[in-house]
Amino acid sequence: MMYFDNAATTLQKPPEVAEAVAHALTSFGGVGRGVHPASLAAGMAVYDARARVAELLGAPSAARVAFTLNVTMALNTAIDGLLAPGEGAVTTAASHNSVLRPLFRARDERGCWVEVADILPDASLDFASYERALARGPKLVVATHASNLTGDVYDIARMARMAHEAGALFALDAAQSAGATPVDMSVLGVDVLCFTGHKSLFGPQGTGGLCVAESVDILPFVEGGSGVHSYDERHPRFMPEALEAGTVNAHGLAGLAAGVAFLQDVGVGQVHAHVSRLADAFEAGARDIPGVRILGGHGGMDRSGIVALNVGDVDSAQVADRLAQEFDICVRAGAHCAPLMHTALGTEEQGAVRFSFSWFNTEAEVEAAVRALASVARELTGAGA
Ligand code: ALA
Repeated sequence: MMYFDNAATTLQKPPEVAEAVAHALTSFGGVGRGVHPASLAAGMAVYDARARVAELLGAPSAARVAFTLNVTMALNTAIDGLLAPGEGAVTTAASHNSVLRPLFRARDERGCWVEVADILPDASLDFASYERALARGPKLVVATHASNLTGDVYDIARMARMAHEAGALFALDAAQSAGATPVDMSVLGVDVLCFTGHKSLFGPQGTGGLCVAESVDILPFVEGGSGVHSYDERHPRFMPEALEAGTVNAHGLAGLAAGVAFLQDVGVGQVHAHVSRLADAFEAGARDIPGVRILGGHGGMDRSGIVALNVGDVDSAQVADRLAQEFDICVRAGAHCAPLMHTALGTEEQGAVRFSFSWFNTEAEVEAAVRALASVARELTGAGA
C-alpha cells in the first residue's frame, strides 16, 4: 500500500509514538486527580507534551497550551469563547467547515455577523476583499494557515498585522501546517493557534489543542471537573484548566509528545523541505499527463505537502477509487469539508483528488504514483491512449 492521505491523518508514525501510548495505557492514572505515582506519571507526560508543543509552535509557555480532542474542538472553543452576541468575525473562503460552521452558527443563533474574504481562482487570498471585510471592525479573524484542499500556505504575518490594525484578534487554523511547515505564533502575530495532533505532529487521533497568547482570555466551552477549586460553582478561568474540563487524554498525549520529540530531532524545516520536494516532483509529473488539471496556485505562495487535481471531467471519487482498487494507493476525494474553496476553484460538482505527502513517503513512491495516475487517467478519459 502507498499512503498519500496524510492531510487527513498520518498513518506512518515514528515507532516511539506507539511505544509511548502502549506504555501510557498500562501505567497512567488520571492527570491532576491524585498524588500517587500513576497519576503523577500521567501528569509529567502531559506536561512534557505541553512544553514540547509550546516550544514547537512558539506559544508563550506550557501553561498557555490547552489540550482538546482535535482541531475542530479547539476552533469551536476559540470561536465560542471569544465571540460575544452581536460581535463580528472575518474568515476566508479557504476555511474548513470547522471554522465556517461555528461562525455561521454564531451568526444564525447569536446575532453575530460574519464576512468571508474571497479566494481567487489560483487559490490566493484576495487581499482587497480581506481589507474590505476588516473595515467592518470585527472582534475576531479566523484564518487557515495552509489550505487542506490545495496545500497553499497563506501569508499569515501580513493577515495578522492587518487584523490587529483593524482592532481584531487573530486565530489561526494550523491543522495542515503544524509539523509540516515551520509555525511560530509569536513571529506570525497569532493570538490563538489551533492545532491537531494526528496529522503532521504524528500523534494519535483524539489529540489537539489551542495555544493562547497571554493577553487573550477565552471563556470555557465545556465546564466540569478540573481537579482543583472543586467547591467553586463555576469552572476555573485560569489556563490551561479553563479549557480542559474532564480527564485529559494522557494516553494520547504521551504519543503526541513522542511525535513532537521526533519532529524536534529531525527539524520541521527538514520535514518541510522533504514534503515540498515530493509534492513538487509529483505535481511536475502529473502536469504532463493528458487531461490532468492541478488545482491551486502555489505561485508565489509556499506549499504544504499537498497536490490537488482532477482528471478531465471525471468525478474525483471515481479516480480515488481506481487508484485504491488497482494500485493500492490511498488518496482522498470529494469536497474535503472546504465548500467555499471549491466554489472559488470551480470544482463544486467534481470535488478534487488530493495527494498529501509526509516525511515517511519516498521519491520512489511518488514516481509510482505518477505512473498509476497516468494509467487511471488514460483508462477514464481515453486521453493519450
Ligand atoms: N480535515 C481533514 C482533511 O482535510 C480531515 O482531510
